[in-house]
Amino acid sequence: APAPIFETIASTVEAIRSQLPDGLKNPRVGIVCGSGLSGLAASMKEVVEVAYDNVPGFAKSTVPGHRSSLAFGFMGDNQRVPVVAMLGRFHPYEGHSLSTVVYPIRVLAALGIKDIIITNAAGALNPEIKVGTVVVVRDHLALPGLAGMNPLLGPTFSSTTPRFLPVSDAYSPALRRLVFLAANELSIPWSDFAEGTYAWVSGPTYETPAEGRFLRAAGADMVGMSTVPEVLAAREAGVGVLVLSLATNMVVIPEKYRSIKEEVEAELLGKKVELPVEEVVSHEEVLLIGRQKGEMMKSLVEKIIDLIPAS
Ligand code: 6GU
Repeated sequence: APAPIFETIASTVEAIRSQLPDGLKNPRVGIVCGSGLSGLAASMKEVVEVAYDNVPGFAKSTVPGHRSSLAFGFMGDNQRVPVVAMLGRFHPYEGHSLSTVVYPIRVLAALGIKDIIITNAAGALNPEIKVGTVVVVRDHLALPGLAGMNPLLGPTFSSTTPRFLPVSDAYSPALRRLVFLAANELSIPWSDFAEGTYAWVSGPTYETPAEGRFLRAAGADMVGMSTVPEVLAAREAGVGVLVLSLATNMVVIPEKYRSIKEEVEAELLGKKVELPVEEVVSHEEVLLIGRQKGEMMKSLVEKIIDLIPAS
């Protein structure tokens, strides 16, 4: 029989700790770096990087713009907070099972993190959210989760974990407050921030116009292919969650379809027709905005960690 998940996790924790100096064995905060945001590790001191290759149970991330290691180090000016950053994460669209996707989060929880800051690059569905905006996520829509792809299907994380986990309070108001306090201290323009609902889709395809319209109508402000599985696993393990979603592109939701019927009819009648411009999203565009906003996200996360109360 396979080992219960918590025994497997305990052995992974041992394997990681054996590669770390004492001061870094018990990180307080976890960070997950999204597309193009791996630069976050640059603001850590006394960094010890542990490659996923040297962590039993971890897969390898295969997406361009993602790395594959855990970076342990200290962050903060006022405090010296031991942190662990995941440089590179796993997505279901790479072919990883949901349990593989959330395994690192369970390991970070078992290493003792109390809070996790998860970043991602996502498409904006809400037309008021401009490219480059940092969206502080306050709710989510997990279509795969509702439809049978919930990462918490199966045994619970521990014997004290509730079978039916409430997630109406998944996004910590206390941590969300710190984003705006940090933004104020760093004098980042208030207009660079919004609050919203993140829709998780499995990908790897971007949305069709009808799907984009559907998600918008369902109340989502952003859409992306990550984060929600990690959020659920973190909440199950009792870890406080903060999600920062960088709007890297607008989701294409044309108000009006190009009508081939009308075009052909006009052509047959010898009339001139104006064709609407058709746009498509590219991964390069997503990475570019990630790089452009990387510095800002880095100082923001650093400041937030400085503001997290020690306890
Ligand atoms: Cl437009 N859609 C999805 N699903 N994920 C994204 C995205 C869009 N832009 C960045 N990530």
